[in-house]
Amino acid sequence: MTPRAPLRGLFVTGTDTGVGKTTVSIALLRLAARRGRKPIPFKPVETGCDPKATDAGALWRAARPPIPPSDVCSYALRLPAAPALAATAEGVRIDLDLLVERAHALAARGDFLLVEGAGGLLVPYVDALTTVDLAVRLALPLLVVARTALGTVNHTALTLREAARNGLTVAGVILSQTMAGTAPHEPGNAELIATLTGQDVLGTLPYLSTDARTDPDLLADALEAGLGRKGLDRLLGTRRPDSV
Ligand SMILES: Nc1ncnc2c1ncn2[C@@H]1O[C@H](COP(=O)(O)OP(=O)(O)OP(=O)(O)O)[C@@H](O)[C@H]1O
Ligand SMILES: [Mg+2]
Repeated sequence: MTPRAPLRGLFVTGTDTGVGKTTVSIALLRLAARRGRKPIPFKPVETGCDPKATDAGALWRAARPPIPPSDVCSYALRLPAAPALAATAEGVRIDLDLLVERAHALAARGDFLLVEGAGGLLVPYVDALTTVDLAVRLALPLLVVARTALGTVNHTALTLREAARNGLTVAGVILSQTMAGTAPHEPGNAELIATLTGQDVLGTLPYLSTDARTDPDLLADALEAGLGRKGLDRLLGTRRPDSV
């Protein structure tokens, strides 16, 4: 078999479910497009679909890729549970080989594949295989999205250790303020994470109103302000429309 070209893009994971992976991904897809890239979103498995895959739909709308919306998600499962459990409930077995094939096929339709994993790194997909096994197979740089709230230092450090243990390259950590109001300790978390893990936090996505977080352009503006140009260059590369 001829070796395949490595995938280009990001694998977005979280320290947990509901930490802001989709929100950050929407912003990154829009920012990638602004830089003249052709971003392609991929949500390999989405659970809690009723019946539509809402994360996959939001990612598609942010990127407007040249693929049908239904191609963004390979397994849209109803049960709001870990992929392995939601799949079993429907008599489905998640096939990691199929997901790797899909990722390469989708990547060929653009030049920046953004994969949103389910939950965090040790969420089971099939048997003892988890998000981290898929991330290893795709070999994309890992972006870790974490909460700003209490507990995030421990969760982020655990996630980064598991990434390192599996030889994954980490592109960065982004904190997302998913709840209004800042507790007194929160501004210190980024520095603690950097000291503990050696991994810089690229920036924070501040708490946004419903209007702002449902508009991909406003989200993109907010993430750009939160990360700065250096952080974005690290995630998206430096190509801009005027250099295409
Ligand atoms: N910066 C923010 N400001 C306000 N609300 C936010 C912010 N980031 C995320 N949220 C909200 O938090 C909730 C969870 O965010 P999101 O869906 O992006 O998380 P997720 O990690 O993708 O979740 P899942 O594990 O279900 O895929 C959503 O309702 C989202 O609108
Ligand atoms: Mg999501």
